[in-house]
Amino acid sequence: MTRILLVSGSTRAGSTNTAALRTAAAHPPPGVEAVLHDALAALPAFNPDDDVEPVPAAVRALRAALAQAEAVVFCTPEYAGALPGSFKNLLDWTVGGTEMTGKPVAWINVAMPGRGEGAHAELRTVLGYVTAVLLADCCVRIGVGREVIGSDGLVTDPAIRARLTQLLADVAARARATAPG
Ligand SMILES: Cc1cc2nc3c(=O)[nH]c(=O)nc-3n(C[C@H](O)[C@H](O)[C@H](O)COP(=O)(O)O)c2cc1C
Repeated sequence: MTRILLVSGSTRAGSTNTAALRTAAAHPPPGVEAVLHDALAALPAFNPDDDVEPVPAAVRALRAALAQAEAVVFCTPEYAGALPGSFKNLLDWTVGGTEMTGKPVAWINVAMPGRGEGAHAELRTVLGYVTAVLLADCCVRIGVGREVIGSDGLVTDPAIRARLTQLLADVAARARATAPG
């Protein structure tokens, strides 16, 4: 099994970004275990003074989840032309660890065409800083509007579900191909 961690950049209960990842986690392709990290708001504000053992429990859980994953897929909204502060906070907590080093990563942009570019430019910068391996051909735009999210929090549109499943298959294939040994 290839384990992929799915990290949402939104804290909103009805988040389109989280719904996309929740749906992907619920419909993985064969051979893939997709795990949703849904504890963004549990992380304390990053403080380098606190980045010493024992780190806060939410940080420990995040780093363990990253370490256990063969790849990571991010899905974040854009706030004010940039990354949401709470999501940048999560990324800041990854700088002091080594879990992102060499980790294959991709993102899904669920915003409508022409939106979200500022956030993804910043995400690219941060992922480069932590020396993750950006799978550029797996960074895709899959539009997810609020109208396609069902009461169960999952995307109802079968075509979108199929694209999310295919993305996980593509990321897993690339992660296996880049795995050492
Ligand atoms: C504070 C704030 C700032 C926003 N700034 C932008 C922006 O710069 N560009 C954009 O395309 N959308 C912006 N939006 C719209 C959000 O991207 C949109 O509401 C999106 O659905 C949020 O993601 P979510 O559904 O996963 O919570 C902003 C929303 C909020 C609340």
